[in-house]
Formats: sequence, C-alpha cells, structure tokens
Amino acid sequence: MRLILAPMEGLADVYLRRLITAQGGFDRVVSEFVRVVDQVLPESVFYNVCPELLQGGRTDSGTPVRVQLLGNHLDALAANAQRAIALGSDGIDLNFGCPSKTVNRSQGGAVLLREPDTLYQVVRAVREALPAHLVVSAKMRLGYDDTDLMLDNARAIADAGATELTVHARTRAQGYAPPAHWHELARIRAAITIPLIANGDVWSPADYRACCHIAGTPDIMLGRGAIRHPDLAQRIRHNDETPMAWARLSGLIGQFWREVRRDMPEKYCAGRLKQWLNHLRAVHPDAERLWQKVRAERSLSTLDTLIRALEADPEGMAKD
Ligand SMILES: Cc1cc2nc3c(=O)[nH]c(=O)nc-3n(C[C@H](O)[C@H](O)[C@H](O)COP(=O)(O)O)c2cc1C
Repeated sequence: MRLILAPMEGLADVYLRRLITAQGGFDRVVSEFVRVVDQVLPESVFYNVCPELLQGGRTDSGTPVRVQLLGNHLDALAANAQRAIALGSDGIDLNFGCPSKTVNRSQGGAVLLREPDTLYQVVRAVREALPAHLVVSAKMRLGYDDTDLMLDNARAIADAGATELTVHARTRAQGYAPPAHWHELARIRAAITIPLIANGDVWSPADYRACCHIAGTPDIMLGRGAIRHPDLAQRIRHNDETPMAWARLSGLIGQFWREVRRDMPEKYCAGRLKQWLNHLRAVHPDAERLWQKVRAERSLSTLDTLIRALEADPEGMAKD
C-alpha cells in the first residue's frame, strides 16, 4: 500500500506539503509542475517550485519529493529531467493531465491524451535520459473529451518504459465534476503490467477502501482530500474515520500562518490562508465560522491577531 500526496499547482505548495506530510502516512509527494518549453531551465526555477531540493529532496518530515515536468519538447524534457535529478528529485513525474487551456494550447498536459504516440515519445525520451534505476512516472486523466484512447494512452506510457502510472479517474472534459470513475481504472489496471496509482475523490478511509476495491490497486494518490484532512493518509493507515479535532487543526492553521508570514511576500499571505480555509470549511463547521471572519479581511496585522486568538482559544474563536 502506497499513499502519495498529489501535485496541486498553486495549492499544495511547500507550506502545505510540509504541514500535510508532517502528519504522517505519506510515502511520497509529487511537486507542482515545472513547465518546460524548449530550454534547460535555470536551477532557480526548480528551487522555486520545489524548495525541498535544497534539503535532499525531502520534506521536513523526510518524505521524498518527486519533481513533475510538463511539456512536449523531447530534448528539453530530457535535459530538464536530468537537471531535476541532479538537484535531488526522487525520480521524475510527467504531467499528462493538466486541463488548463493555456497549457493545452501550447501542447502540454491533457491535450497530449489525444496523441498516444506523442505520450510514448515523451516518456521514452525522459526514460532514455536517465539511468534505469531512477523512477520515471506519469500522471494522466482518462482521456481528453472521452475515454476512447484511454487504454492506448496507458499502454503507450507503459511501453515507453515508465515505472508506474497514476490516473485521475476523469477525462479533461469532466473537469472535477463528481463522481470519479474508479471502475475505468480497473480496465487500465488490466491493460498494463506496471503499477497503477489510482486518483480522484478519495476523501476518507472508506473511500480509500472502495477505490482500491474497484480499481484493483492498493496505491492511491490523495489530492484535495489531504488538503481538507491533513491527517487523511495516517487515518487511512489506521482505518480511523474520525476527522481531526478542531483544536489540533487550529494549531496547524496557526503554524501554517506563521510560516507563510515568515517566508512569503506580504501581498500573497492573506490569499494563501483564505485558499486553505476555503477548502477546510467544506468539511469542518468551525473552519466555516473562521472563514466568515477572515474572508473579507485584508489587514495582515488583523489576521495575525485573529490567528493568535484562534490558537489561544480554538472553540471560543470559532464561535463568537
Ligand atoms: C488546485 C489544483 C492544482 C492541480 N495541479 C496539478 C498539477 O500541477 N499536476 C498534476 O498532475 N495534477 C494537478 N492537479 C490534479 C490533482 O493532482 C488530482 O489529480 C486531482 O485533484 C484529483 O484528485 P483529488 O480528487 O484527490 O483531489 C491539480 C488539482 C488541483 C485541485
């Protein structure tokens, strides 16, 4: 059984990766994507996206981080893969799932799911650029508009020498609309011999069990579920359906805010807090009450005071 924290550009940044992996239970993290056009990128780009490279390619709690690359230029992807490895990435992940129009217009991400042969070429180029013992993984959706090429795409990735494949159980056209189609993953599982990592809409230990059963794999990538429940991986391992107590979650919110305030340019701090609380409020009633207090607040010193009060008295703060 492997549990992997999903790449989530602009959401699972170094702060949340640190905080979530510190709760335990994760085997690996995939970074936000590094977009490759036709150049070898400077080291600073890799360090910006994945500061963990500065500390041995691991989060503070020791979870290995794998850099994800997005693009279609074979030589540039190969060279950037070598660079990421040299900087300490735990293998390379290739993004064939990004639905963004801008990214897709430049022939990156999910749009490549219309061309199994291109997927093959991209994986092959990166595979050949790296020593055989290093992992080259790929992440795809079920398809672009539909699932017609789903098995061709999965086979192309496997035949090109990928070590493992993660599949988000939706097409690009399905966006993030529930449900995730876990049963399609079983068809992919049967079509390839490399390990399959299932992804999409696992919010609880019960979802984990159902997804494993339907998809036929014990390996799951957790995305938004881990943002909303930072201890989800640990709870899955202990089959514990009890959500994190508000007092403990308040402590994590306080820690997150202090680290963001310490390291991030001021203009981004409030947005980061609000973005996380916006996810938390979907599942924690107390977070909803806190959200109502911070949503329109722009003053960082007022937010400092609010978060200090939260840590001092989590129940009172959320209720008054
Ligand atoms: C805000 C956001 C950013 C994302 N960025 C990436 C990304 O950089 N690379 C990638 O492969 N997938 C990305 N994804 C997709 C997730 O990795 C994952 O496949 C998707 O959220 C479904 O899993 P979940 O239901 O567990 O969240 C992103 C998803 C979200 C919500």
